[in-house]
Amino acid sequence: MIYMRRTATRDTSIGGTRIAEGDKVVMYFGAANRDPDKFDDPDTLDLAREPNEHVAFGGGPHVCLGQHLARLEIDAILTEVLTRMEDLEIVAPPEWLASTFISGPKRMDVKFRPGARL
Ligand code: HEM
Repeated sequence: MIYMRRTATRDTSIGGTRIAEGDKVVMYFGAANRDPDKFDDPDTLDLAREPNEHVAFGGGPHVCLGQHLARLEIDAILTEVLTRMEDLEIVAPPEWLASTFISGPKRMDVKFRPGARL
């Protein structure tokens, strides 16, 4: 998910931009995760980034209710990919999903040597 929208319940400002009550405000989570005011070297993919107060799962009252399940799922799939898909290789340019809301590959053909379950 690329963004979510809120409706301002009162006049306020964010980063010097005035927002009036009733205005629609869009939050781009991916952009926030590369905020140069928050992170050193924000555009480098550093899986060990520390501290890493990212907002991939949102925050506040609407923080992702599924984040613990999502983390388990990601952990499980990466474990399988890294231990059972030897010589994993992308064999054709991935097709990206045509969406302004969800970002991700629609199709990505790969080849690999299947390994045994550990
Ligand atoms: C990598 C996977 C996921 C990502 C990146 C993600 C991301 C997010 C984000 C950014 C929000 C906040 C939306 C907002 O601010 O309005 C959110 C909300 C939510 N997510 Fe996820 N999510 C993931 C997986 C899941 C899963 C697996 C579930 C359920 C099984 C789930 C259930 C929810 C629900 C119910 C909310 C709404 C919470 C509320 O508005 O109170 N999410 N998610």
